[in-house]
Amino acid sequence: MKSLRKGIGNRKEVESYYDNWSSSYDETLDKWNYKAPLQSVSILKKFIKTKPKFILDLACGTGLFVDKFLQVYPNCVCDGSDISRKILKISKRNGNYRYLYRKSIESKIKIVNKYNVVSLIGAMTYCKNHQLLFKLVSYYLEKNGYFIFTHRVDLWQESKFNNVLEKLKDFDTLNITRPLNYLPKNKDFGSDIKIRIVLLKKKK
Ligand SMILES: C[S@@+](CC[C@H](N)C(=O)[O-])C[C@H]1O[C@@H](n2cnc3c(N)ncnc32)[C@H](O)[C@@H]1O
Repeated sequence: MKSLRKGIGNRKEVESYYDNWSSSYDETLDKWNYKAPLQSVSILKKFIKTKPKFILDLACGTGLFVDKFLQVYPNCVCDGSDISRKILKISKRNGNYRYLYRKSIESKIKIVNKYNVVSLIGAMTYCKNHQLLFKLVSYYLEKNGYFIFTHRVDLWQESKFNNVLEKLKDFDTLNITRPLNYLPKNKDFGSDIKIRIVLLKKKK
């Protein structure tokens, strides 16, 4: 199995990697000083004008992002999706989500309402088809809705992600952060691997 830094492997391998990690995931991320959920919420708070009513948290993991998000937007209804069955069990137990879908980020979720915010925190690494992902996110969002995501700077460069963003017709880019530490206390990542947090707004 490849390492976390190298992206683990194919979808089945990723799924079982997170299944096996699920029970100690929160504790490990805390040890590695993972701050992307909190930092992403700060960006939303800074840029969005009206309180969101519905959020869809893609690749939600155990729910670390909505945990921070609900501290700022306690009345927002949160739905989530992930491929790992075991990690979804933990999110369900934590009780912050209305609906949890076992779905890949590249498969269409049968949603019951449109969303004001879609998030993808710590998981763009696993996206094989960016165009498809952005098309799905656009479908999930209300007009004027927001898409917040993180993406690793090394993979950004490798995949020429600037070109991907430039080609987006449905979205305006509101903010791209400077490179930020991702998992600074993990020895494979350290201060070597950084992320940017990106906030897009769906056009009218
Ligand atoms: C680093 S964790 C991030 C979880 C959460 N967003 C957070 O910030 O803690 C990556 C998550 O992406 C999920 N994942 C990986 N590949 C996926 C895919 N193709 N579709 C949906 N979820 C996926 C994993 O199961 C895992 O829960």
